[in-house]
Amino acid sequence: MGFAIAIDGPAAAGKGTISKAVAAHFGFAHLDTGLLYRAVGARVLAGVDPIAAARALVAEDLEDAGLRTADVAQAASRVAVIGAVRAALVDFQRAFARRAGGAVLDGRDIGTVICPEAEAKLFVTASAEVRAARRHAELVARGAEAVFETVLAEVKERDARDAGRAEAPMVAALDAVVIDTSDMSIDAAVSAAIAAVEAART
Ligand code: DC
Repeated sequence: MGFAIAIDGPAAAGKGTISKAVAAHFGFAHLDTGLLYRAVGARVLAGVDPIAAARALVAEDLEDAGLRTADVAQAASRVAVIGAVRAALVDFQRAFARRAGGAVLDGRDIGTVICPEAEAKLFVTASAEVRAARRHAELVARGAEAVFETVLAEVKERDARDAGRAEAPMVAALDAVVIDTSDMSIDAAVSAAIAAVEAART
């Protein structure tokens, strides 16, 4: 049997960076489950029905470089409230979680709905202001025009939708280790995550 690590939390809290580093440290496979919702969101922006898009999703769809835009992120958050969309994506995620060599899944509902029996659960968070500042800096570094207040408003809008929906809302599992990265370096956050997983392994 594999070893599953569930890493949940809001956008730009450092989940992705931490998940990749934790997966590399333990030699586990990594699935960014946000990409599933982004791939569906991107299809919806192209005019496809969300439920049909979710049911037709294949692994290659996750490799589309266009999934990282702010428009696709908002579309992903909107399709993620639809129960039938979520249901269509469950089996793929559960099979990934149980692969033999161990798995890290990051998202919003991994420790609560997809894999409540995960051997280690983390909830990675940070204040909305810190997360918006990180996202803003990323956009500016990429040469994009970005206004901090707009980025902050988008972060807050997505948090409210992701945490407020009826189906599988974003919430820390009762047994998750919460890591607030607001005042932490990336190295410190990765070390804290690895230490929490090590503690769950013993
Ligand atoms: O992690 P991300 O920013 O790529 O996620 C995009 C959206 O997808 C997020 O706002 C909500 C949704 N999502 C979800 O509902 N459940 C997940 N496990 C992962 C993402």
